[in-house]
Amino acid sequence: MRELSRLAVLGAGHVGPVIARLAIKAGYPVAIATSGDPEDIALITELIIPGAQPRWASDAMADADIVVLAIPLHRFGDIDPALLDGKLVVDAMNYWPASDGVLEPFEGRGSSEVVARRLPGSAVVKALNHIGYHELEDRARPAGAPDRRAAGVAGDDPAAVAMIADLVDRTGYDPVRLESLRAGRVLQPGGPVFGVVLTQPEFERAVRQDARSLR
Ligand SMILES: NC(=O)c1ccc[n+]([C@@H]2O[C@H](COP(=O)([O-])OP(=O)(O)OC[C@H]3O[C@@H](n4cnc5c(N)ncnc54)[C@H](OP(=O)(O)O)[C@@H]3O)[C@@H](O)[C@H]2O)c1
Repeated sequence: MRELSRLAVLGAGHVGPVIARLAIKAGYPVAIATSGDPEDIALITELIIPGAQPRWASDAMADADIVVLAIPLHRFGDIDPALLDGKLVVDAMNYWPASDGVLEPFEGRGSSEVVARRLPGSAVVKALNHIGYHELEDRARPAGAPDRRAAGVAGDDPAAVAMIADLVDRTGYDPVRLESLRAGRVLQPGGPVFGVVLTQPEFERAVRQDARSLR
């Protein structure tokens, strides 16, 4: 069997551990990191994300093929873009002025497009941002399950989108590919699928019209 990509999940708050658990269940090797000492999350990782390796963020990123950004957007500026050069980056972040504060560069824009501009050496894919962490875990189903739901995958690099669509599929969702980060604006807060967990036909109906208008 083909070896799966190595994942680094940055963020061990609400959504990071859920993404890590789903990926481990799907067979991916997973490291998890905060901005601090991995010792500080060693016990909690063992308890709530068995199988994940707590690491320093820089080490986790260095060894990963795929880096999932599951940190508050206002902390994104703390990450050195050079550490993500050559990596496939999943942007699971959202811009929430209520908790992030007003971040001028993100106002009225597609947040992942702004993220991607700061990471010129990375392939950025927007995914896993639009389903709340409880539901993300509870609604995950194996391929073919009658009540399986859909999750969006948006990016400018088709090969990167294909890899993350595969990850989304393996972690329990029917991936719906969107052809650009710009089209992926439909996945962000205020968009037609944010915070709702839809079947694939429902999801496609909901996003197509908006995505067309954003091309
Ligand atoms: N909550 C959800 O249901 C949900 C669902 C999908 C997407 N999202 C998005 O995911 C992001 C995280 O949300 P959350 O609710 O999980 O936030 P959270 O509970 O506040 O957790 C944030 C985590 O990020 C870590 N962190 C902060 N800066 C970091 C850095 N520079 N490097 C590594 N780790 C860092 C924090 O640890 P330290 O402060 O100790 O470093 C903490 O573990 C947000 O953008 C949110 O919109 C959330």
